Amino acid sequence: MPRSPDHPVDPVFTQRWSPRSFTGEAIPESVLLSAFEAARWAPSASNVQPWRFVVATPLQPLWEPLLGLLAPRNAKWAAKASALIVILSDRFVERRGEVVENGSHSFDAGAAWSNFAHQALRLGWHSHGIGGFDRAATRDLLAVPDEFAVEAVVALGRKGGLDQLDPEFHAAEAPNSRRPLAETVFVGRFGEPAFDAEKDVA
Ligand SMILES: Cc1cc2nc3c(=O)[nH]c(=O)nc-3n(C[C@H](O)[C@H](O)[C@H](O)COP(=O)(O)O)c2cc1C
Repeated sequence: MPRSPDHPVDPVFTQRWSPRSFTGEAIPESVLLSAFEAARWAPSASNVQPWRFVVATPLQPLWEPLLGLLAPRNAKWAAKASALIVILSDRFVERRGEVVENGSHSFDAGAAWSNFAHQALRLGWHSHGIGGFDRAATRDLLAVPDEFAVEAVVALGRKGGLDQLDPEFHAAEAPNSRRPLAETVFVGRFGEPAFDAEKDVA
């Protein structure tokens, strides 16, 4: 069932969802470049752009070992993706000649991944974030320097049909919903809904 927003939004926001059925077809480099270009323009604290990405496609030697580091349940469906992208973020930043912790490295990498996912969708490719994977082993496999956090893996591909998906995932293969804004946006203090009918936010 298509998602129906409570308030008007650009359709790209409700049309993006995370399928598990992928066709496995090869992804053009132009699609990857556009999606990464969108990620590139994400905002970040002091414009330090802490995000980095490592891409693997099925023909590369990295594919099988990386797939093997996903939680087995994730690896089952992600094997038919067209690309796996590991998202990293630099935990440190240089400020006034001193290297200090960057408190927003994950927040900023999240903004970049959102840009990536929405641009990919515009081009007809779906993405699915994956947190269930072995971060330490991924760090070793990719020779990620210590100062970078291993944030997530993203599976990217063309959405397939149910016939291309293991039956154990069929029940969940549909866009989900969201809690209402009244439980998410507050005014004055935490927990006080900003937008219920009784309140005037002006
Ligand atoms: C950081 C992150 C980690 C996730 N980890 C997993 C995962 O390990 N396995 C999985 O099947 N889905 C995973 N997801 C997908 C979420 O469950 C999904 O985005 C969420 O339910 C919202 O659904 P939607 O993306 O279809 O709108 C992850 C998503 C994100 C952003």
